[in-house]
Amino acid sequence: MIRPVRPEEADELGALTVAAYTALPGHVEEPDYEAELADVATRAAVADVLVAIDGDGTVLGGVTFVPDGDNPLAEHEIAGASTIRMLAVAGHAQGQGVGEALVRACIERARDVGSQHIVLHSTPWMQAAHRLYERLGFARRPDLDWTPVPDIPLLGFSLDL
Ligand SMILES: CC(C)(COP(=O)(O)OP(=O)(O)OC[C@H]1O[C@@H](n2cnc3c(N)ncnc32)[C@H](O)[C@@H]1OP(=O)(O)O)[C@@H](O)C(=O)NCCC(=O)NCCS
Repeated sequence: MIRPVRPEEADELGALTVAAYTALPGHVEEPDYEAELADVATRAAVADVLVAIDGDGTVLGGVTFVPDGDNPLAEHEIAGASTIRMLAVAGHAQGQGVGEALVRACIERARDVGSQHIVLHSTPWMQAAHRLYERLGFARRPDLDWTPVPDIPLLGFSLDL
């Protein structure tokens, strides 16, 4: 089941997100960003944080849906574009379609709010995420690439709705 995160799940989702990001081979440590990944409550106050839950209520993963470019979490100024950020699935739950379900839920939300596009950014070592985005129809957008921090290039992807 995919639904908005509950306040009592925020710390669990934050820890899961940090663990998923830092476990990736090639991960470059960035303490400030890891603190931001852990802070689910702050992002849930300004955007839609969704969780994937299994039958017994365990949090399997989560994602942040940012409806438009005016949102403080948007990393773009593209008119009519929503954003997906902080997608993560717990290691033990990966490879079962949880990540795909979370991204599909965001695509549905983007359509519901009338967006024409979804844009997102990902690092070069997030290879499983790239396959997932491309499987769902996202295209690589080198024109949206940027490097906010040395050694952490961000690769752009977009989906036209
Ligand atoms: C990216 C990420 C969220 C994907 O989550 P996930 O739940 O494993 O994603 P899915 O299960 O939908 O897809 C992963 C793989 O499992 C496969 N899969 C999905 N359901 C399956 C099933 N029932 N049986 C077998 N394989 C399955 C998919 O085909 C896919 O294969 P591929 O990687 O070879 O293309 C996860 O790897 C993660 O947390 N990574 C670290 C954080 C990160 O990179 N975030 C992206 C930020 S931009």
